[in-house]
Amino acid sequence: MLITRLRLKNWRNFRDVDVKLGPRGYLIGANASGKSNLLDVFRFLRTLAQTDGGGLQKAIKERGGLAKLRSLHARSKPEVRVEVELAESPDASVPTWRYALAFKSEGKGQQRVLITDEAVDHLGEEVLRRPGDDDEGDTDRRTQTHLEQINNNSNFRAIVECFAATTYLHLVPQLLKHSGEIGARVLENDPFGQGLLQRIAKTPKRTRDARFARIGKALAQAIPLFSELRFEQEPVTGLWHLEANFTHWRVNGAWQREDQFSDGTLRLIGLLWALQEGDGLLLLEEPELSLNDEIVKHIPLMVDRVLKSARMLGRQVLISTHSEVLIGEVGTGSAILVIEPGANGSTVRGPTEDELQALEGGLNPAEVLLPKTRTQGLEQLGLFP
Ligand SMILES: Nc1ncnc2c1ncn2[C@@H]1O[C@H](COP(=O)(O)OP(=O)(O)OP(=O)(O)O)[C@@H](O)[C@H]1O
Ligand SMILES: [Mg+2]
Repeated sequence: MLITRLRLKNWRNFRDVDVKLGPRGYLIGANASGKSNLLDVFRFLRTLAQTDGGGLQKAIKERGGLAKLRSLHARSKPEVRVEVELAESPDASVPTWRYALAFKSEGKGQQRVLITDEAVDHLGEEVLRRPGDDDEGDTDRRTQTHLEQINNNSNFRAIVECFAATTYLHLVPQLLKHSGEIGARVLENDPFGQGLLQRIAKTPKRTRDARFARIGKALAQAIPLFSELRFEQEPVTGLWHLEANFTHWRVNGAWQREDQFSDGTLRLIGLLWALQEGDGLLLLEEPELSLNDEIVKHIPLMVDRVLKSARMLGRQVLISTHSEVLIGEVGTGSAILVIEPGANGSTVRGPTEDELQALEGGLNPAEVLLPKTRTQGLEQLGLFP
């Protein structure tokens, strides 16, 4: 299932968003325009859908409370609203599901966050509408969504499963390389890829080998002298390690462990693994980091190739990026969303008619769309002592 449309009201630095999404989406925008904030909506929905210890109150608390989540650009203190449409295919004329959630502060007493609207539609028919009679006179009920309650979500479990299957990855190579010294604390859902080795270790050998074969193939094209990737367990400590072989003057080449890999190699391995792990929405933050442009250029194609060979071409992937070469290679089948900051917060849009014409006329998306995201007056930066 895909999330085909996203609507937001008063979400962080967005006052009003209404965008269509497809199997591949690329978010472009200046620093602090809101790319990560937009991806965060799907992590928020994932927390709502976690029936073991997730839920609305937790999702808000993790974000520092409603005051931090609600847009500072909103004039009064209105509700925050998140609405998504889901469909089996990007061209479905009627969405299979619609889920909407709005909430605001109680405004008195304990200042709890209360649901003002929760709605589910299935093929245009209403399945849930809250607050309803059941919520009347029992305000506590309005602190929880029905997504997070197994007893109440049986009619729309497919939405819960879709939200819960979201993965977010912003791999920080240093955290993985130095996990021994840094300690065992890994954030929930491991956004920074620290626990990658443990996750690989837990994967059944056959699946792991198949995934490694695809990763190895991609790495062989991207990394000079790379010849083989394997996953080995230390006999004494039982710890697992990634090992890569590089063609070398020695007959059998030289094996290196993950702590010796370059940052770019590790990020690429993390990305290629994440693509094949799970089948829900995958959120990738700036996959271009630490990689040279020759490799970055191939990321859009690499994503498609790996998903295709893993028979998951339909998997939805949303990518935030600053990279001109990456955007330059995005094909016409992918959606590019342009985030533009303004005095009233940021707005999100797809290409305009004129821009579409320019794209059809043969200009690449980087030429047409990236100039719109450039921050003005940057030349002044050089004047600072
Ligand atoms: N509740 C809120 N109301 C208004 N603005 C907010 C709110 N919460 C966060 N912001 C602002 O949103 C901006 C950051 O957005 P975000 O981190 O999504 O940017 P980004 O596009 O990912 O940037 P980068 O490219 O640097 O990663 C910050 O300037 C932050 O102050
Ligand atoms: Mg960001």
